[in-house]
Amino acid sequence: MITMAEDNRSILFSRERIAQEVKRIGQEISRDFQDQEVMLVGVLKGSFLFIADLIREIEVPSVIDFVRLASYGSGTQTSGIIEFRKELEMPIRGRNVIIVEDIIDSGYTLECLYNKLLLQEPRTLKICTLIDKKARREVEIEADYVGITMDDGFIIGYGLDHDEKYRNLPDIYVVDEE
Ligand code: IMP
Ligand code: MG
Repeated sequence: MITMAEDNRSILFSRERIAQEVKRIGQEISRDFQDQEVMLVGVLKGSFLFIADLIREIEVPSVIDFVRLASYGSGTQTSGIIEFRKELEMPIRGRNVIIVEDIIDSGYTLECLYNKLLLQEPRTLKICTLIDKKARREVEIEADYVGITMDDGFIIGYGLDHDEKYRNLPDIYVVDEE
């Protein structure tokens, strides 16, 4: 059971820390793709704030598109079943595609998306995540750009939800699981 009363959560990553990591990733991408164009593919809904901040830190020409995947019910454990609720609208063939995720946990969601996009023959296909729960990975998938690595724990805020709530919190909180 997760209780979400305000005294059951504490700030894990402040908005200042997040902004600092987003800026760093933006610089890394701008450096890696100097004189090229990148296409950011945001995974809705969780990445909407991250991608909005990230694209403003990228100095090379950028285009953006979104997919919507769902793997979680209302619990905090992945079901392992990934559903595509919204497909890409732009072709990715020949483009420098960067998948932008809020968080990688087991890795099932990303593996599924990665393999699907690979079939469409992008020029390059990279993975960018704000949060990496590396220790919880169940499939072999590595992000090329990582904001913050963390161990276990369920977090909310800055796009991350619990039961669709708390995405609006400007900082990231860890929640006491009871
Ligand atoms: P995976 O398929 O297990 O890697 O799950 C990834 C997805 O689960 C993320 O895109 C999030 O939507 C969700 N998720 C995983 N951990 C958390 C968390 O701590 N807080 C909120 N959502 C999470
Ligand atoms: Mg997500």
